[in-house]
Amino acid sequence: MASQNKPLGHAIIERSTTLLFVLTFLVIAIGGLVEVVPLFRLEETITPVKGVRPYTPLEQLGRNIYTREGCYTCHSQQVRPFRDEVERYGHYSIAAESMYDHPFLWGSKRTGPDLARVGGKYSNAWHVAHMVNPRDVVPVSIMPAYPFLLNKELAFDDVSDHLRALRDVGVPYSGPMILDAPADVRAQASGENADPLLARYPGAKVGDFDGQPERITEMDALVAYLQVLGTMVDFSDVRLDEVRE
Ligand code: HEC
Repeated sequence: MASQNKPLGHAIIERSTTLLFVLTFLVIAIGGLVEVVPLFRLEETITPVKGVRPYTPLEQLGRNIYTREGCYTCHSQQVRPFRDEVERYGHYSIAAESMYDHPFLWGSKRTGPDLARVGGKYSNAWHVAHMVNPRDVVPVSIMPAYPFLLNKELAFDDVSDHLRALRDVGVPYSGPMILDAPADVRAQASGENADPLLARYPGAKVGDFDGQPERITEMDALVAYLQVLGTMVDFSDVRLDEVRE
């Protein structure tokens, strides 16, 4: 019989369901641990990159509107490291760029273009016109219009709570950043008294985003968010062989 040629130990294992189960479980458990344990040290697997900072309260509220409106169902926010993508959109996305994103909005579908590097590509006025009616600036566009954003006052009474929740999941918002968040929203959307904001969030774009200086609307927040996308890292500064991901 063939089984007579097998080493004795193996025959024992194969004839006992319980032993086979226990040993199989052990082997799979070891494999699972090897995969999972490094993830508990996630903090160290993302190399921090100069320039990446938490979103300002206004940008974060814009991000919430982007999520609420489902923009991610048509737009990805992740430039993949392929030549065609890099030539079209710019430098491929690196992990550190979305380390403060909760939830991440990488997306999986591109009905419209990737938006990971859209910040600074257009003026605020272009974005407003495009959101109000995409066909006004891109005649063949199939993107839905979002004109109501221009008329909806931005709700930001509870923005401090929101930042506090983000701090609980690891975004390094300081006490003053949380307490002064409503003031930071006003400063960024008006450009007035913006020094404390700029000290807290270097490089933040300030001013009237929606073309209505007397109001702070959801459009202000959304455009502030779009304008920061992909602008935090200066890639002429980053040596990519040093960026391990
Ligand atoms: C049904 C799919 C769809 C949805 C939903 C959608 N878009 Fe678009 N978007 C497009 C398409 C298609 C284009 C390309 C044509 C154009 O520029 O309008 C586009 C273009 C854009 C552009 C210009 C990008 C560039 O580099 O030229 C921006 C910015 C943008 N969308 C933002 C948004 C935001 C913000 C939302 C949510 C409020 C949104 N989109 C929702 C389909 C969509």
